[in-house]
Amino acid sequence: MTRAYNFSAGPATLPEAVLRQAQAEMLDWNGVGASIVELSHRGAEFMGVAAQAEADLRTLLSVPDDYAVLFQAGGATTQQALLALNFAAPGQTVDYVVTGHWSKTAIKQVKPYVNVHVVADGEPGGFRDIPPRDSWSLSSDAAYVHITANETIHGVEFRDTPDVGAVPLFADFSSSIASEPLDVSKYGLIYAGAQKNLGPVGVSVMLVRRELLERAGQPRADIFTYASHAARDSMLNTPPTWNWYLLGLTVKWMLEQGGVEEFARRNATKAKLVYDAIDASGGFYRNEVAPSVRSRMNIPFFLPDETLTTRFVSESKAAGLLALKGHKAVGGLRASLYNALPVAGAQALVDFMRDFQQRNG
Ligand SMILES: Cc1ncc(COP(=O)(O)O)c(C=O)c1O
Repeated sequence: MTRAYNFSAGPATLPEAVLRQAQAEMLDWNGVGASIVELSHRGAEFMGVAAQAEADLRTLLSVPDDYAVLFQAGGATTQQALLALNFAAPGQTVDYVVTGHWSKTAIKQVKPYVNVHVVADGEPGGFRDIPPRDSWSLSSDAAYVHITANETIHGVEFRDTPDVGAVPLFADFSSSIASEPLDVSKYGLIYAGAQKNLGPVGVSVMLVRRELLERAGQPRADIFTYASHAARDSMLNTPPTWNWYLLGLTVKWMLEQGGVEEFARRNATKAKLVYDAIDASGGFYRNEVAPSVRSRMNIPFFLPDETLTTRFVSESKAAGLLALKGHKAVGGLRASLYNALPVAGAQALVDFMRDFQQRNG
């Protein structure tokens, strides 16, 4: 069996070592005679897996002690809605920076509950850049400021943490968490669906400064209350144990590989390979994002026409390079270069790109 290089934006490629370990442990986890997925979340076995995953994630991301780490069932979109319910009073103003598709989704989720103020909007510029910080119109009374650290579809990434003063900064790190060192203390809250850099879909991670959990927010069920989840170590109800276990294996693998410093090096190498191939193609391949905010994780790029795009997708797939079709919102092609994609995968892609151009350019 050969595994292809998988450029999917999410669910995405996972480390082969993690998949092999999960396979080996599938029928009998640690000699207990059952799979971890068959054991109670309240038993010592899974409680140990859960606690280890949290400890490893804290180490990987250097999470300060005054931050709670939550493991939430479901995806980032659910967390986007719950932000308003937990941290803003009914009708209170919340500030959102719009840098692409996922910023807009984040706004859509909170609109029924709060007064959304768009601080800056990259859409008139086609989401090719992030509006400069000094052009943002922050509200003085906002409950929080929300950014999307990396726009998975538009390929735009904050390369620095913006200073937003005293109002807590909330960030969607779904597609770039653990891709490089991160100063968690600059954020009030960080959330991420796991299915890109952290493991399988079905669980989201949240890092939240504990004092924020004391906010009243607005009327909501206990199950939608982050403070309740934090008080019960994310075991308020039955958590997604399989996903949490796989996330734990993935985080351990990242630590063994050298942690976020090592992934920062690999990710910079991979992104440079692909952007250099695009930029050296004389316009055959195009990426129009401003170089200073080009995403290291997701690279959308375009060919001169639709026929070539379709041919590229099918020929690359036949060559063992999976999922290079662009998102339907923007078309074209997209290469996602998450932590589990090796440098050799990016190299194989640029070799294919050069060959494809020679044959079709
Ligand atoms: C940056 C970002 N935010 C939010 C989401 C939505 O995640 P989910 O589908 O898990 O709700 C995605 C999904 O790709 C994403 O890339």
